[in-house]
Amino acid sequence: MPEPIDPTEFRGRGVGTSDSVSVNPIFERPGEATDLPKSRLPKSESFPDTAYQIVHDEAMLDGNSRLNLATFVGTWMDDQAVRLYTEAADKNMIDKDEYPQTAAIETRCWTMLADLWNAPDSRRAIGTSTIGSSEACMLGGLALKRRWQKRRRSEGKSTEAPNIVLSSAVQVCWEKFCNYFEVEARYVPITLEHRTLDGHDLDKYVDENTIGVVAIMGVTYTGAYEPVADIGAALDRIAEETGVDVPIHVDGASGAMIAPFCQPDLVWDFRLDRVASISTSGHKYGLVYPGVGWVVWRDKDALPDELVFYVSYLGGNMPTFALNFSRPGAQVLLQYYMFLRLGFDGYKRVQEESLAVARYLAHELAKMPAFELWNDGADIPVFAWMLKKGYTDKWNLYDLSDRLRMKGWLVPAYPLPDDLTDITVQRIVVRNGLSHDLASALLAAIRTEVDFLDRLEAPVPREGQPVLFHH
Ligand SMILES: Cc1ncc(COP(=O)(O)O)c(C=O)c1O
Repeated sequence: MPEPIDPTEFRGRGVGTSDSVSVNPIFERPGEATDLPKSRLPKSESFPDTAYQIVHDEAMLDGNSRLNLATFVGTWMDDQAVRLYTEAADKNMIDKDEYPQTAAIETRCWTMLADLWNAPDSRRAIGTSTIGSSEACMLGGLALKRRWQKRRRSEGKSTEAPNIVLSSAVQVCWEKFCNYFEVEARYVPITLEHRTLDGHDLDKYVDENTIGVVAIMGVTYTGAYEPVADIGAALDRIAEETGVDVPIHVDGASGAMIAPFCQPDLVWDFRLDRVASISTSGHKYGLVYPGVGWVVWRDKDALPDELVFYVSYLGGNMPTFALNFSRPGAQVLLQYYMFLRLGFDGYKRVQEESLAVARYLAHELAKMPAFELWNDGADIPVFAWMLKKGYTDKWNLYDLSDRLRMKGWLVPAYPLPDDLTDITVQRIVVRNGLSHDLASALLAAIRTEVDFLDRLEAPVPREGQPVLFHH
């Protein structure tokens, strides 16, 4: 683990080390300050153009988002979407009374998702937009917890010690859920034989205090699907043998927007009775800019009514279930725009293209003597690879990641979670916009850098090498 940054030391300095931002003489205007402090509110005003130029120039120092192969989050939308985004930037999603059309569009979007995810009756399903998958997962987890508490109370049993069962490869949002909402996390470690949570040994983790099991469609570390149907079947057996009946929340942050289009025969969604709720990130393979997620419950029974708050809407009361109050409404409109713009066929074409690029990259990397694939991008367009055992002790995947970063490519390397922390992988997330052409440029960069590292006469120094990537 790298040393944590001390925020009192860091003080938002950014790339430079000085305490102030100086205005380029070209943009200096008479009467304006030419040096603006970084950690105090400047004393006086700046002209809008000056302030714009400073912020614009600082943001330019961020990485190039198109070359960021670490993120799952959308980095490109078309001009019409950008126009809509600008037009709707002032809309607050919670003001349902003032913006009834945005509220209606939000409902249309999650109803479409309920249908896409095969809810038995999408009109009986219930859902909401969120700020991302993290909030959506928390809401899914909270509903599981409250359902379990209600049932236990009605049976006169203790509600002291709820637990949730999940893979050790869950995204950090689930650790947060367990921490913030006081639910014991029962992690099932991944191993070489069981590379994902697959129902194996589930009876050792599940008991009468289990509020639910999380199944991930598109594990963050590798992109692999967890076999939701197998997990469901294991829970069916547990229910038969012990009477403990445990629901599933599917964390489909990425996969819930890939599987319906590209693997329609894979049964992972509301077709499985045990799946109570499904969440996804609209801003990942939903193809929207950051700031939107979705969660849908199969029916109203899966979402306890006490968790729902009512806000004023067209003189009536509109149910809402969210951790935030105010948040942008624009992203919800962008999601609807994408649904209309692409439809089922368009999403299928875009996602299939990303899958084809991922498989091409994986196939080409597999041919290189240095590497061994962990998976090949067959599930979501994400794959990871390892350095072949015994290939070299001069360099590792962190070194390759550093070398690629020098060329602008962000291709993170990191250890796998428990019980495979001794395996380091490197991962590529293919998103809409990583064309075959860009992918071949990336491959060329990887080949050049591997060649450079191979030709080193001594090992790369290890001292102080930072680990830069976090899940
Ligand atoms: C499986 C999974 N769940 C949840 C999240 C959190 O998503 P968000 O960034 O939309 O909050 C991620 C993000 O990568 C993820 O991969």
